[in-house]
Order: sequence, then structure tokens, then C-alpha cells
Amino acid sequence: MTKTTISVIKADVGSVSGHGVAHPELLDICDEVLNDALETGLLNDYYITRCGDDIDMIMTHRNGEENEEVHKTAFDAFMKATQKARELKLYGAGQDLLSDTFSGNIKGMGPGVAEMEFKERPSDPVIVYCCDKTEPGAFNLPLYRIFADPFNTAGLVIDPSLHDGFKFEVFDVMEHRKVIMDCPEESYDLLALLGSTGRYVIKRIFKKNGEIAASVSTERLNLMAGQYVGKDDPAAIIRAQSGFPAAGEVIEPFAFPHLVGGWMRGSHNGPLMPTSQEEANPIRFDGPPRIIGLGFQINKSELVGPVDLFDDPAFDPTRQQAAQIATYMRRHGPFEPHRLPSEEMEYTSLPGVLTKLEDRFKKME
Ligand code: 13P
Ligand code: 13P
Ligand code: MG
Ligand code: MG
Repeated sequence: MTKTTISVIKADVGSVSGHGVAHPELLDICDEVLNDALETGLLNDYYITRCGDDIDMIMTHRNGEENEEVHKTAFDAFMKATQKARELKLYGAGQDLLSDTFSGNIKGMGPGVAEMEFKERPSDPVIVYCCDKTEPGAFNLPLYRIFADPFNTAGLVIDPSLHDGFKFEVFDVMEHRKVIMDCPEESYDLLALLGSTGRYVIKRIFKKNGEIAASVSTERLNLMAGQYVGKDDPAAIIRAQSGFPAAGEVIEPFAFPHLVGGWMRGSHNGPLMPTSQEEANPIRFDGPPRIIGLGFQINKSELVGPVDLFDDPAFDPTRQQAAQIATYMRRHGPFEPHRLPSEEMEYTSLPGVLTKLEDRFKKME
């Protein structure tokens, strides 16, 4: 049977007010462009959402990963939305488009891409996460929990189809290289890398037989070796049930609002708050960082759903805790660990300050 591809392509092309929320007219424009692609048969289905100022286009088709036409369609949608954003004088119009000419693959052009191709199972649940005010490394902790921690994922212990564990493909953002590691065999070595969320980032997870299980957008990380360009609000696709963690196991780690980088000016740590689509509005100090989750069933390359996963009172205490942590972190003002270490900051005045003080610095005795 022909395989199904899910492509999640996302970008921030303008928002209200400041870096808050993508304007609904931009989503309408994306909808028109994707609807045309549906009519020509390029796409089989799509769902458009937003998390904060980022528009996420979730598309299903049969053309495989890195398909030029699918990528160009997404690029065209973001270009048209950018025109509208300029007309409306939205903030950061065209923010994530680094070029206005498409060059065959949207990777490296600014937007984030998470894709996977697979043979559909008799029933195929898939979960898509979309974030704002954070970075791809924000998924390291929850993805480790989902695919490697038996205290999160009961199936790793009690389900024979999960008992072998998973393979993690990890990018080293600084050295521009990647490594595949086996879990549980190498779990301590894997954690030694994954704890450095600004440098080592999970790109994909596979079953031991090679079947794809998860895929994370990390595009901007591909742009430049040696320089930190990682504050790119990420998205992820995760398969659930029947040989993969149960849907509830894929959702459970987000009940803990862990600290992630990317808040205010891409330069602060804050708690990752899970919300419904409607509440994905990072307002307080441009945050706190947000994540939404959408649960689908894939049916003959079409999307059934979604269920808005964090639209659940069981996540109220998490949101409450995240709000308290936000207050606690904010009290640090310009100090670490609220402010990121200088090499990971998107904005910094430090080089200028150091130049100004150069003559006044004296040798210590
Ligand atoms: P059901 O018995 O409702 O199918 O649930 C099985 C399961 O594994 C839920 O995590
Ligand atoms: P975005 O990356 O979501 O555009 O946010 C940038 C920012 O500086 C928010 O304070
Ligand atoms: Mg923005
Ligand atoms: Mg954003």
C-alpha cells in the first residue's frame, strides 16, 4: 500500500500585538493556498492552527518527505500571508522568511519543518505538538520521558511491542553533526547529551526495526555551524499506540511545566505551559512559553480530528504551577538562570559593553 506523509511546516510571518498572536486573516490566506493544493490533488488533507505568533500547517499527502511541490505550497502560503501582514502593518511581518525566492526545499529558508512518511496501520493515532517562545531542545525532556522513561511510559515495561526500546537521532547544533543512539542500552550516555538542550537536540526517534516514531522541526539549526541560531519555535509529530507509546503516555510529560529557553526576546528561561489552541496566547512578558497538542487519527492519508489535547481540566494544575514558576523566574530580572547564558541569547548588549569598558579594565593583582 502507498505510504502516507505528514508534513508540519510552520512560520511566524506577523502578529498582534508585538510577538503575541498570528492574525486570523493570515490563517485564512494559508487556508486558501492549501485548499487549492487539495483541489489539484497534491495534498490529501490539512489542518491549520497557530501557537502564539506561529502558524502551523499540518498537511497529509502521498509525496514523501522533502517534496518540492509540498514545500513550495507552504512557502507560497507564507509569502501571501506575509503580504497581508505588511498591509496590516503587523509586527514582524515576514519574520521567518529569510528569502522571497523558493529554491526547491523550504529547509534553510526560515520556516520549521517536521515530516514523517509511514505505512498506515489498521488504526493510526498521531499527535502533533506546536510551540511558541521556545526552541527545539524543549522537546528533549518530554521525548526522553515518552520513549525511554518507564516511570512515564508504562508500555516500556508491560507492552512486549515496546519492550525493546527506541533509537534516538540527536543533532549536535554547534558542530553540525548527528548521532544515533539506542535506548535503553545507552540511556545514560544519551541523557548526558540531551541535558544540554541548547546544543544537543532530538531530531527523530525510531523503533529498533527502523520504523519512524517521532520527528521534530529543527530547521534553523541547519543554517549555520558554530553559531547559535536555535531559538526557533518548534513543532513535533509523534505516533501513538500499537507498537508506540499510548496517546496518554505521549501527553503525560507535559503535566510537568519544565523550564525551557526562548521566552522574552528569545533570551530567557521559563516554564512550558500547555494550553488549548484558544489559549495559546503568550502575553505575559511575551510568554510564558506555550505548547498546544492536537490528536488525530490518520485515515487513508486524511486527518480525522483533531482533539485539542490540553483543553482538559486535568491540566489546570499544570497551568497554575507554570504561572507560579513564571512569577518566581521573573523575580530574577536580568540574572541567570532566568536570563539565558550569554552564548545562547538572541539579543545581547554584552560585546558593546565590553568594548566600551576595554580601556577601563585593569589587571587584577
Ligand atoms: P482501551 O481499553 O480504552 O482501549 O485502552 C487501552 C489503553 O492502553 C489505554 O492506555
Ligand atoms: P518569536 O520568536 O515568537 O517571534 O518571539 C520573539 C520575541 O522576541 C518575543 O519576546
Ligand atoms: Mg514573532
Ligand atoms: Mg513565535
